Amino acid sequence: MQPISDAMSLFAHQRAVRAFSDRPVDDETLRQVLEAAMHAPSSQNGLPWRFIVIRDPEVKDPLSSLYEECYAQVYGTGEPDRAAGREPWTATPVLIAVCTPAPNGRTSMMTGASVYPACQNLMLAARALGLGSVMTTLWRLKKDAIYELLAIPEGWEIAAIIPLGWPARPFGPNRRPPLEDYVMENRWTAGS
Ligand SMILES: Cc1cc2nc3c(=O)[nH]c(=O)nc-3n(C[C@H](O)[C@H](O)[C@H](O)COP(=O)(O)O)c2cc1C
Repeated sequence: MQPISDAMSLFAHQRAVRAFSDRPVDDETLRQVLEAAMHAPSSQNGLPWRFIVIRDPEVKDPLSSLYEECYAQVYGTGEPDRAAGREPWTATPVLIAVCTPAPNGRTSMMTGASVYPACQNLMLAARALGLGSVMTTLWRLKKDAIYELLAIPEGWEIAAIIPLGWPARPFGPNRRPPLEDYVMENRWTAGS
C-alpha cells in the first residue's frame, strides 16, 4: 500500500486491516509508529501508557488462540483466513498491547481519554507509512488469561491490542455516511 503524506487523505484511508503480508515490520518503522503515539495529548501530560511489542511466537501463539476463543464466543465459528481478510494473530507480524494505569483496579476518564488518542496516533502513523492496523478490544473476554500471559502487573490494564503489518492487499478509503447526518446546529434537533 502506498504511503500517505496528506493528513486529510490519511483520515479517510485509515481502515481496520486484519490480514497482513509476511513482510516483517522493521525496527525503524516500528519506532516511528510508537514515536507518533508518544506525541498524543494526555491529561497533565502524564503519558499514561506503555507499549508491549509482541513478536515472539511463544507469546503470539497463545494470544492468538485466546483471541479466537473470544471471536468464536461473540461471532460463532468463522475460521481466520488471510484471503478472507482476517488472519490469525499467529500470522500477524507485530501485536502491540497498549497498557494504561489502573490504580486500585480502576481506570478513569483521564487515563482512557489519554490512552486512546495515543492508539489513534499510532494507527494513523502506521497508515501514513503504508502499514495496516486495527484497534481490538474483543480479547477482553479472556482478559485474565491474557494478563497472565503478558505478565501485566497489578495496577495496569491493557486498553487495546493493535495488530500491525504490511497489508495483505491494497484497499481504498473507509466508508462513512454523510457528515450532515451527524451534525446539528446550536441545539439537538429532534430525530437526529
Ligand atoms: C473501541 C474499538 C474496539 C474495537 N474492537 C475490535 C476488535 O476487537 N476486533 C476487530 O477486529 N476490530 C475491532 N475494532 C475495529 C472496528 O471494527 C473498526 O474500526 C470499524 O468497523 C470501522 O472499520 P473501518 O475503519 O475499516 O471502516 C474496534 C474499534 C474500536 C474503536
